[in-house]
Amino acid sequence: MHPLIRNRRLRTNEAIRSLVRETIITPNDFLVPLFVVEGKGVKQEIPSMPNYFRLSLDLLEKEVKELWAMGLKSVLLFAMVPENLKDNKGKEAVNPKGLMQRAIKTIKNACPEMLVMTDVAFDPYSSYGHDGIVEDGIIINDDSVEILTEMSLSHAEAGADFVAPSDMMDGRILSIREALEDEGYTNVGIMAYSAKYASAFYGPFRDALDSAPGFGDKKTYQMDYANRLEAIRETEMDIDEGADIVMVKPGLCYLDIVREVRNHVDVPVAVYQVSGEYAMVKAAAEKGWLDHDAVMMEQLTAIKRAGANIIASYFAKDAVKLLG
Ligand code: PBG
Repeated sequence: MHPLIRNRRLRTNEAIRSLVRETIITPNDFLVPLFVVEGKGVKQEIPSMPNYFRLSLDLLEKEVKELWAMGLKSVLLFAMVPENLKDNKGKEAVNPKGLMQRAIKTIKNACPEMLVMTDVAFDPYSSYGHDGIVEDGIIINDDSVEILTEMSLSHAEAGADFVAPSDMMDGRILSIREALEDEGYTNVGIMAYSAKYASAFYGPFRDALDSAPGFGDKKTYQMDYANRLEAIRETEMDIDEGADIVMVKPGLCYLDIVREVRNHVDVPVAVYQVSGEYAMVKAAAEKGWLDHDAVMMEQLTAIKRAGANIIASYFAKDAVKLLG
């Protein structure tokens, strides 16, 4: 045997492997999701998300300083809304003194350079646990867009750098962009959850925010996971409507979509490695069935290799600690 090409030459040792490695995870890749809750000194572990916590604002302050020191410079905020403030109108969602609005200010005070993105959706505020206003069991599109637009303005007013609509109502990006322009928030960006699938992997997140739908499911607005072409259509439309960044969500089961979207568009593509993906790794590792750190890095690298320019991940801190 005299093969001219031996692929194993480039795998001989770590030095050559690292020299030819195509995809490298760095702290710059991450967007860190944070859950905030009312109270003082509150740090609640989310039962289905081991080692992930809801934090009250005083502890949030400490957390973002720690993230910044680790080189993690962007966060994605979610607020846990008390049951008595939920309704079908989104009143609390646009409250200038609401938890989300205070959380934005807290972060900007504690760590002014931290990039603050906010989740814009109705579900944590909705007595029905849906991403829009409910009428006769139906999630109404256009009235919901109005509230999402007001919500975005309210986040911008509180100091958010980016709003991230995750609701999947039609036409919301255009409406939000126009409103931001009209009100002078020309530098506030939009990261659109564009190809967001109706996924069973969001379960632990809905525990985290107590936001599970009270009836039915989200299949009339989130995408059917059997579909691929729709993802291109959704992302292209969001870009036309003014999105600065588009997102594919969830991550691992959707890497074909990530690659397809990456090849089609010319804006940054974010991928959300969602709560269920985190929970699976933690659960298997707890049982001793998988090597936590190895699986985590393999998954994150695969997401980036597929074309993600930004990774929203609950593993951000774990991964950066491992990178050293
Ligand atoms: C809100 C929202 C959800 C997630 C992000 N924003 C839940 C949902 O749409 O039901 C899920 C994130 C995760 O599972 O980590 N619309």
